[in-house]
Amino acid sequence: MQKSFYINTYGCQMNVADTELVESILENEGYVKSDSLENTDLIFINTCSIREHAEEKVYSQLGRYEKLKRKNPKILIGVLGCMAQSLKHNLLISKSYVDVVLGPDSYRRLPELLKRSQNDNESLVDTTLSRYEVYSDLFPSRKEGINAWISIMRGCDKFCTFCIVPFTRGRERSRTKESIIFEAEQAVDKGFQEITLLGQNVNSYNSGNYKFHNLLEELSKIKGLKRIRYTSPHPMDITDNLLSIMAQHDNICNYIHLPLQSGSDQILSRMNRNYTKGHFLKLVEKIRKFLPNAGISTDIIVGFPGENESDFDDTVDVMNEVMFDSAYTFKYSMRRGTKAIEYDDQIDEVTKQDRLEKIILLQRRHTYQNNCKDIGSVQKVLVEKESKLSSKQWAGRTDSNKWVIFDKGKAKINDIIKLKVTDARGITLRGELVSFVEAA
Ligand code: SAH
Ligand code: SF4
Ligand code: F3S
Repeated sequence: MQKSFYINTYGCQMNVADTELVESILENEGYVKSDSLENTDLIFINTCSIREHAEEKVYSQLGRYEKLKRKNPKILIGVLGCMAQSLKHNLLISKSYVDVVLGPDSYRRLPELLKRSQNDNESLVDTTLSRYEVYSDLFPSRKEGINAWISIMRGCDKFCTFCIVPFTRGRERSRTKESIIFEAEQAVDKGFQEITLLGQNVNSYNSGNYKFHNLLEELSKIKGLKRIRYTSPHPMDITDNLLSIMAQHDNICNYIHLPLQSGSDQILSRMNRNYTKGHFLKLVEKIRKFLPNAGISTDIIVGFPGENESDFDDTVDVMNEVMFDSAYTFKYSMRRGTKAIEYDDQIDEVTKQDRLEKIILLQRRHTYQNNCKDIGSVQKVLVEKESKLSSKQWAGRTDSNKWVIFDKGKAKINDIIKLKVTDARGITLRGELVSFVEAA
């Protein structure tokens, strides 16, 4: 009987891509993927430490796995990813049923660890962070779909004072262009229409002085690659060269995720973000000059230590001025090992919640207002999946990363079509088919 595995993934797209990597390592070892937790030999949970809530979700899943393990002690339970890295041996102390703890740079050791675990019952921990590991020669297990995630760099050297990522993912390092281009070509050969380049700091990619914009330009020339996206960039690494390459190539999507975090100079400085409100606004202006119709989304944290009403108003100001198309909004969460946890002017929960609710409402209005402006325009859309609302409709994304729902007609998944936007509801657009650009 072949052994099977089940992996539950939390956290960012890097973790999704890492899970695909782990899947491919396990498949090479003769394991098969199982879609359910029942009767599986190996349960892995790929974890995230970004906020307390993310860790709580993982703990509650681990509670379920403990019960399964009590019923069947032969199941092997592994904790992978960022929590494995930040908690290390502490995880084993508090969760004795966990067999394997592997940090994000240790997945290559899986086969060896699995073999060892068959022979003894000792738990195994490897959380060595590497300055070099980019898994260049290991290709993810990728079956079929529209979008292929391709990780191009790992780690982060920015050390924003609120963020645990530099500690869980280690130092920045980039893959060679050859291995990235090879992986992108392979994905296109397999029928993927779109690639999304991934990195904790994707635009600080630098491989032997070959920069992010050089890579984008070369990838854009791959025949049959219809769309290129990337996430997450840091505002300080958005260069004129990058914007100009994006403007020149039709298959590089007209969309930038531009994490603001805060609009207050005082808070930005304490966050170690290395830009001011003024810089950020100028950058947005520049993006709109190069890419007039670009979609711009952001991340915002409220309740960072020391944030007073006037700091919060500055964040609201920037939101009003930029009118982001969408925003991921968070309450500041204290993370062990980071600098901001040491600040003694932490904000109370009620104030955080109040500020969060305010910006959620504001963003909802901005998203809707921006979407209303799209009504009547014609947009290029990649048909991605059936709409959740009706089996007679498809859902797809515009170049600027907005979801549109429309009647299926003769369109098929994977087609690129032109749609006229007819309505804006909530956060999605409605549209009708105008013509086919490229049938799949
Ligand atoms: N590398 C990415 C960020 C990844 S984390 C970037 O720089 O854009 C995604 C988002 O989580 C961050 O942009 C930030 O808004 C939020 N975040 C990170 N640490 C946090 C914390 N301690 N509390 C609340 N939100 C946090
Ligand atoms: Fe975290 Fe800042 Fe690095 Fe993003 S750039 S991963 S927020 S430290
Ligand atoms: Fe979470 Fe680690 Fe990603 S902390 S957001 S899974 S890099």
